[in-house]
Amino acid sequence: MVDVTTTYLGMQLRTPIIASCSPLTGRIDSLRGLQDAGAGAVVLPSLFQEEVEAEELAAVALQDTGDDFAEFASAPLPDIDWERLGPDRHLRLLSQAKDALQIPVLASVNGTRPGDWAKYARLLADAGADAVELNLYSVNTNPDESSAAVEDRYLRIISMVRAQIEVPLAVKLSQHITGLSSFARRAEDAGANGLVLFNRFYGAEVDLDALAMTSRLALSNPEELRFPLRWIGILRAQRPGLSLAATTGVHSGLDAVKALLVGADVACTTSAVLQHGTGRVGRMLAELGTWLTDHDYDSVRQLQGSMSADNVSDPAAFERAQYMKVITSQI
Ligand SMILES: Cc1cc2nc3c(=O)[nH]c(=O)nc-3n(C[C@H](O)[C@H](O)[C@H](O)COP(=O)(O)O)c2cc1C
Repeated sequence: MVDVTTTYLGMQLRTPIIASCSPLTGRIDSLRGLQDAGAGAVVLPSLFQEEVEAEELAAVALQDTGDDFAEFASAPLPDIDWERLGPDRHLRLLSQAKDALQIPVLASVNGTRPGDWAKYARLLADAGADAVELNLYSVNTNPDESSAAVEDRYLRIISMVRAQIEVPLAVKLSQHITGLSSFARRAEDAGANGLVLFNRFYGAEVDLDALAMTSRLALSNPEELRFPLRWIGILRAQRPGLSLAATTGVHSGLDAVKALLVGADVACTTSAVLQHGTGRVGRMLAELGTWLTDHDYDSVRQLQGSMSADNVSDPAAFERAQYMKVITSQI
């Protein structure tokens, strides 16, 4: 039997496959399914600040209307179920998940103002999250905010959250950060224990009938793994103390092997389990085990990082050479 345990954010995981945020990690039955299939940890769906505040505001408005017009109301207003609103829904899911599962449960936050990120991260950490993941998904359209200012804002969020929580902190990033190597160093200095590379952006769609801009959910494909692989390989060599998680395009056990080889501590999967069900994690682990055995590896740890950019003296020159080779190659 090969040893597939790994360490991520300082936590010992029984396997390196993590079920990343999706509707499947938002239900106890599928969370159990993911655990039974062998997931090393799960990340619950993000708490979006606007969503929880909108729910609370709508409920308060309904209650206020009730107070103002109660004497005229012909029928009683419906009781407001406060437990289903605002952050309580996330806190309840977290507490149920902690009761139901033996593997680590990570909570994810996406806030607006830095102080609010910290407030919600603290709520989730206090409610028992084994670690917190910051989902830094944002499309930055303010012409007065430079790239450097955007990165400074992200770093402020990281340090404010760090000051509020004691559990490990991971940061899920977009690949659209110009100086990612520098950002990774500063994120570590600001208190991040790990990076999750990369969040997936959905882009825009145009509905030609309605003449409207829309968004459409499209699941990933394994081709997209190339981008996390490149950057994990580079950052593994540069930031040995930082945990690295691969996300986007991990669909099979062999995809996980690639992520681990370049230096990921864990490989996260969402689209594959949404497409094929929670049991897909078991199949990925079986493929990983077979590959390790066939290639004479005793453990995942032995594999991890053996193909990182550690053995490349100048990663930027190496990438440039690769780029020229690719675009001048014959199709
Ligand atoms: C339906 C759906 C819901 C998602 N919800 C979240 C979320 O709440 N927070 C988050 O950080 N990522 C969310 N994601 C992104 C995934 O966690 C994952 O990072 C992304 O899908 C790329 O991984 P994949 O290629 O394995 O799908 C969601 C993805 C899908 C498809």
